[in-house]
Parts: sequence; C-alpha cells; structure tokens
Amino acid sequence: MSDEGSVEIKDLVKTYVDDRGRPTFTAVKNISLHIDTGEFMVLVGPSGCGKSTTLRMVAGLEKITSGTISIGGRVVNELEPKDRGIAMVFQNYALYPHMTLFNNMAFGLQLAKKKKDFISETVGRTAKALGLDHMLDRKPSALSGGQRQRVALGRAIVRSPKVFLFDEPLSNLDAKMRVQMRSEISKLHAQLGNTMIYVTHDQVEAMTMGDRICVMRDGLIMQVADPLTLYRQPENLFVAGFIGSPPMNLLKGKVQRRNDGLFFVEAGEKSALTFPLKARLEPVANKYVDKEIVFGIRPEHITNEPKEGSSVPVTLTVDISEPMGSESLVYLKTGTGNLIARIHGEHLFHLGEQLTVQFELEKVSLFDVETEKVIR
Ligand SMILES: Nc1ncnc2c1ncn2[C@@H]1O[C@H](COP(=O)(O)OP(=O)(O)OP(=O)(O)O)[C@@H](O)[C@H]1O
Ligand SMILES: [Mg+2]
Repeated sequence: MSDEGSVEIKDLVKTYVDDRGRPTFTAVKNISLHIDTGEFMVLVGPSGCGKSTTLRMVAGLEKITSGTISIGGRVVNELEPKDRGIAMVFQNYALYPHMTLFNNMAFGLQLAKKKKDFISETVGRTAKALGLDHMLDRKPSALSGGQRQRVALGRAIVRSPKVFLFDEPLSNLDAKMRVQMRSEISKLHAQLGNTMIYVTHDQVEAMTMGDRICVMRDGLIMQVADPLTLYRQPENLFVAGFIGSPPMNLLKGKVQRRNDGLFFVEAGEKSALTFPLKARLEPVANKYVDKEIVFGIRPEHITNEPKEGSSVPVTLTVDISEPMGSESLVYLKTGTGNLIARIHGEHLFHLGEQLTVQFELEKVSLFDVETEKVIR
C-alpha cells in the first residue's frame, strides 16, 4: 500500500511555555506512534493526558518542542496546517452562522480558488452522502446539533484530505445522536478509506470505532493495540482499569505455595478469596511466591452458570445489585472490598443474599504491583 496517508510520530515532546518562554507544563512526554494509510486510530485516555495536544501538533496548530511528525513520509514539523494534507473536525464545530449550509461546506474550496462546477459537484455529492442535500440553503441556526456536526464533517470531507483529525467531535451531541454519528463516521471511513485519527475520552467510542487504539496517560502511551487485544491482554493496570465497562476487577493479594500447588490469596481477613493458579498462570506466578500481586478478572468472567474448563465456584455475599434488564451488575463482598460480576438473565438479587458464582480462571490477568505491568 502507498504510504501517502501514513502518519509517523517519533519521540514527540510538548512542553508548554509562558509568555516569557519559561516552561510551564510538559503535556506530551515522549511518544512514538505509527499510523498506516487508511487506518482508523483512536487516541483515548483521561482528561488532561495530552490527546488534544498530540492531535494539534499533527495538525500544525501547536508547536513541537522536540521530535518529528511525518505525514506521507514527509516531515511536516515546519509546514503550515494548510500544507499538511489534513482536515480537522473539532468538538466545537463553529460553522459560519450567516452562511448557508452550502457555503459553509464550500468555503474552503472557494478559498482554494477551485472551479465553480467542481465546487457544486463536490459539495452536492458530499451533502447527499451525509443526508444534507435537501437543506443546502438553510443557515446553521435552522439545523439540529447532529445536522450541524454533519456539516462540519462535510466541510472536512470536501477538501479530500489524506488524513482526518477528529477531536471529540461527538461530545456535544445527546447520547442517541452520538451513537448514530459514531456509526456514520465508521461508515464514512469504510467508504473514503482515508487515514483517521480520532480523539476521545470515551472508551466505548474507542472500542467501537478504532482499527487500533492508543491508550494514553500523563503524556505517555500506555498501550497500542486493536480493540480485542486491548480487552483481552491489557499490558498494565492502567489499561486494565480503563478499558471495559465496568472495568476489570483488580484484587490485591499474594501468591502462596501450598501442598497442592500455587494459589492467589486475596488480602484482608474477612471473605478473602483464594484461587488455584494452574496451567498458564502457574509458570507466571512462580516468580511471585510470597510476593504481592494483583489478580485481574473481568465482570463478564464471573457468572452464575457452570462453565467448562478451569472455572471455580465461590459463594459470596451480595452487596449491591444493579438490574439492567437482560443482565445485572452485582457487587459481591470480598476481602479487600467489592467485586463486580456481570450476571446474565433477568434476576433480582438482594442485599445480603448468598450467591454462588463461577470464576473463569483461564481469563485472568496477573500484574506486578511495583511495575504495574502484566506478568507473562
Ligand atoms: N497552553 C497551555 N499551557 C500550559 N498547559 C497546558 C496548555 N494547554 C494544555 N495544557 C495542559 O496540558 C495537559 C494536556 O492537555 P490536553 O488538552 O492535550 O489534554 P486532553 O487529553 O485533550 O484532555 P481532555 O480530555 O480534557 O480534552 C493538561 O494538563 C493541560 O492542562
Ligand atoms: Mg482534549
């Protein structure tokens, strides 16, 4: 594949400075990331982790402190935003209020002195694809939030950039509209095949839209992987606790050697859990005998149906239950606090009730307490 839409970020650092050029805050500490032509890459992470700063450096809206950014194999550090072959869609899409929808979309092409026929054909085709073709003479004030967001998208699309940059473009929309626009952007990506870099703090958006996801924290990359790998094999405690809703249960405890093998023994006196560490987990835990460890299991891997394989039944006390119709999130008391189980089916569980659940131990991840990294 040609690399004309690839984006290469290398040892990128951003330190903000004050009016006198004194450093104030390093928002991006040192990140390297390669994005293939046509790839949909999501940058996700909590507020303040440096997502927008990174995207704005790719766009050329923010000066780079050190490192390089290449688009299509060419270093763009010193290029103006308009010369980078990118188009950016922001959360705050700022349409021109006095212009019709047509002119809002055509504006960039008019500035670039494109031919009139070309402009009306391009805007018409794009508006049709976005379901806006019957309202091209309306002003933004006569549009719904979702329609305005689509105009902002259209304005980026007509410029046929090599790379689309999105910074939380859906966060001003209500929940239903967000889900709809999410699938529209995914469809658009499938149709256009352009490279897209999409910033969000919403891990559901990240999981449903990204070919790959880059999880960031405090100006650093914590893991880059496709959604399922991220879900199944989190590299560290941060990713384990960030991806998934509700996130992975993380229990503190120790590895103990007993007569019949290795065990994870949860900390705490009352209702502390104990699990055998067999098969894949045994060699992994071997180096941690009598040491602290974090035992991670997802809520959906704690069920009330007997499972094949290495699952273990445990009876626990129900603390809180959140019935959601087809499933319930049940908080169960353990040695160090609560554990959330996702129980399928229509049930009502009550405070203090005893519930026997199965732990699917082959799905467990173990983490080093000090490095916070997964143990392999
Ligand atoms: N001009 C600035 N001067 C100093 N610090 C800044 C400046 N702009 C941003 N920051 C800081 O840099 C960090 C990263 O900001 P950034 O906007 O990239 O975060 P983000 O990941 O996009 O967060 P959010 O999800 O809230 O949009 C934040 O701690 C922010 O306070
Ligand atoms: Mg931001």
